[in-house]
Amino acid sequence: MNIKHVIESQQFSREDLEGLFALATSLEGKRTKDLDGKIMAALFYEPSTRTRLSFESAMERLGGNVISTENAKEFSSAAKGETLEDTIRMMHHYADAIVLRHYEKGASERASKVSSVPIINAGDGAGQHPTQGLLDLYTIQRELGSIDEAHVTMVGDLKNGRTVRSLSYLLGKYKDVTVSFVAPEALRIGDDIKEYLSAHNATFTETDNLESVLSISDVIYMTRVQKERFQDPEEYERLKGSYIFTREMADRMKESSIIMHPLPRVDEIQPEVDDSPHAAYFKQASYGVLVRMALLKTLLG
Ligand code: NCD
Repeated sequence: MNIKHVIESQQFSREDLEGLFALATSLEGKRTKDLDGKIMAALFYEPSTRTRLSFESAMERLGGNVISTENAKEFSSAAKGETLEDTIRMMHHYADAIVLRHYEKGASERASKVSSVPIINAGDGAGQHPTQGLLDLYTIQRELGSIDEAHVTMVGDLKNGRTVRSLSYLLGKYKDVTVSFVAPEALRIGDDIKEYLSAHNATFTETDNLESVLSISDVIYMTRVQKERFQDPEEYERLKGSYIFTREMADRMKESSIIMHPLPRVDEIQPEVDDSPHAAYFKQASYGVLVRMALLKTLLG
């Protein structure tokens, strides 16, 4: 795989993805010294639990070390007015890779322009979250056995949800995939994604009616309405409860189908769904460590 920085999910070829996923599976349960002596910096300007800690756990499991700032908007020199570029120009002397989460779309791309070490985009505003896309795709492969021919339904805030965007680009690389986008009018998926899917011969449909695709989907991918991206709090209040997945709905899904969510959830999936055989969201989060191990090993090994 010939990749230096991880900025957007469409940069991975299908071959890259297959190699990465095979490596991820081979690393399950392993502790190695592959990255002994290497340092990963986690530079986070927005809240995170899973992404930051699973990256840190992945690095530690490969024998590497971690330095991190989890509230860089307030606690780094950004609070004093330092530009992201200056922060990165210094950080690349401190670490062998920088995992960056930022509130602005395009931040990782900007960082990559001035960084001599790999920048890994861990979420750039409403832009992308490519490593979440990778672990989501890996979850589909592990749980369904194959990604080709899958019918994946994404539900909720498709306008602001960066994980949906990254996963959609990845699905465009597989054969005979069908994507159903389920969202209220105000939160519909962007035209860039639809154009990409059309150009890659993936079938997609758009609706605001989850019921219409519930029993024909292989994956129901629920998402949180992204409160932090709303200018108008009333608009958020109006839209936040748009889709709530219940146990009764889970029981009407296709037998082998799964429910995913990048987490954190607010109320999009009721707790009663958690012990449904279809619920895959906690497993999905656990696969994040494997996929991030594979990625770090590939970039730094
Ligand atoms: C997502 C994110 O940050 O975009 N969280 C995550 O990394 N698992 C989804 C979200 O915050 O809704």
